[in-house]
Amino acid sequence: FAFDEESERQIAAILAKYPPERKASGTLPLLYVVQDQMGRTTGSAWVPRVAMDVVAARLEVAPIRVYEVATFYFMFNTKPIGRYHLQVCTTTSCWLRGSDDVTAACKAATGISNFGETSKDGLFTLTEVECLGACANAPVLQVDNDYYEDLDGPRTHELIEALRRGERPPAGSTTGRMDSAPAGGRK
Ligand code: FES
Repeated sequence: FAFDEESERQIAAILAKYPPERKASGTLPLLYVVQDQMGRTTGSAWVPRVAMDVVAARLEVAPIRVYEVATFYFMFNTKPIGRYHLQVCTTTSCWLRGSDDVTAACKAATGISNFGETSKDGLFTLTEVECLGACANAPVLQVDNDYYEDLDGPRTHELIEALRRGERPPAGSTTGRMDSAPAGGRK
């Protein structure tokens, strides 16, 4: 693994924020850079072990310091995943508001049987996640870094079919609810 030009630009901006003796603070952001580069260049956004070693060398820390961070946070994928990462919140608010229907639609639209699996065409990986902090617009499905909110079964199905066609519907409330703020942060 080697960082490409785009990643090197991002890394320069990240490391400029920290004093040279505090480079280790760049661990999380550099792991994101790795994951983004893998997604951008291979279609599977994950963090291979060899890339963790590259991050450790760049930050001049022991590799274990990077491994322990990469394996602690669920937002880093330490195994290859599909082109689209479907993350269904099944915590209380989403569950009460129909996350079972979202899960069922995800499975039906992708052919995936269980959480943790990738579809045979390699396009989708389905993961169960805890509260995403968007309970007011439950149920929520996170696709890669985007939140799709106020879902039901049919709208989840439509969303996945759009992704399959290479479209990227706007994130946020799928019903147009006014208190959803997909771009520029939550109100
Ligand atoms: Fe699903 Fe909080 S319970 S976003």
